[in-house]
Amino acid sequence: MKTRRMAPRALLCSNGWPLLTGNGVRNPLSLSIDLAYKVGRVAFQSVRAPRFTQEHNMRQVIWAAAAIAALAVTGPAMADGPIIIKFSHVVAADTPKGKAADKFKELAEKYTDGKVKVEVYPNSTLYKDKEEIEALQLGAVQMLAPSNSKFGPTGIKQFEAFDLPYLLPDLNTLRKITNGPVGAKLLTLLNDKGMTGLAYWDNGFKQMTANKKLVKPEDYQGLKFRIQSSKVIDAQFRTLGAIPQVMAFSEVYQALQTGVVDGQENTWSNIYTQKMNEVQKYATVTNHGYIGYVVVVNKKFWDGLPPDVRANCEKAMKEATEFGNGQSAKENEDALAEIKKAGKTEIVTLTPEQDEAMRKAMMPVYKDVASRVGQALIDEILKETGRGPIN
Ligand code: LMR
Repeated sequence: MKTRRMAPRALLCSNGWPLLTGNGVRNPLSLSIDLAYKVGRVAFQSVRAPRFTQEHNMRQVIWAAAAIAALAVTGPAMADGPIIIKFSHVVAADTPKGKAADKFKELAEKYTDGKVKVEVYPNSTLYKDKEEIEALQLGAVQMLAPSNSKFGPTGIKQFEAFDLPYLLPDLNTLRKITNGPVGAKLLTLLNDKGMTGLAYWDNGFKQMTANKKLVKPEDYQGLKFRIQSSKVIDAQFRTLGAIPQVMAFSEVYQALQTGVVDGQENTWSNIYTQKMNEVQKYATVTNHGYIGYVVVVNKKFWDGLPPDVRANCEKAMKEATEFGNGQSAKENEDALAEIKKAGKTEIVTLTPEQDEAMRKAMMPVYKDVASRVGQALIDEILKETGRGPIN
């Protein structure tokens, strides 16, 4: 690996704390923050407290531990070596997101002529869903691609609009939204939270799985479903009379296996690569929702990159996005074929009447969540989809 001497640059943590300097995680301070974050997490996990208090304490411990570690480090940052971009994600490498992340690594390293090294950590090996966003804001990792459904806890609720049931008839319609003014406006919301949005990446359309055959809306009554941390998805399952339970992606397989939850919704590629099909008797082809990602970077890290490096990383991101989004549908088709081949899950196809009944049952969600994600945004998106307002 070619190394270059890089001028140290000021880098602030997202809490405005002016301590990070240097080039990504080669900076010992950044490493300390990463370590402190994990120490804080472990310390927190040993504390038993009610859920709300636990989450509150967790944040306090993480911030405190990161602050102590940062103050303990003195002297100039390590200035030699490439700029490291740690890219953490929660899915398998062999998925639309995993492959796009690997493509970004390949291209960013090539276009920057080795000035940048991208370390991709798949499968929640570094952080789980919620922690990874906190770690990004702290500067412990530089890049992530959380799903649209996972930004609510940061205070940005608008991306949850993409969770509205039966919103998108196809990926072309989605592109009209993400590549147009609505998509651009949504990305700007990230800036206030210490993040810069770089791209929209696909996974694909969601299907329902359970140990019970799910055909009509009443079949969902009383079943427990694992969900991502989106209030729109929460409303969707409540509308069906089901009991939604927010859970990190890395915990879903075990929760299904042990019966902590009865079912879940996901794309074929996620179902297959997490082996959920081995612990779910039925999968119903609903295509009722979409999973896509916002690629985000720590804003101060990104703004502090030398302009030529940033421009080459942007070029790499653009091409990785085209690559990933160009093959996401095929990835999901292939995963479905594998699930069928494995033969452990019965694939249930709905008749047009059954499909219509599911759509109708979920429509109240649009009104239920209007005040959360914004009626104006919902209307704007619906206009792009050509559907007009839903009453
Ligand atoms: C999920 O949590 O089900 C998905 O968002 C995981 C992912 O990143 O595709």
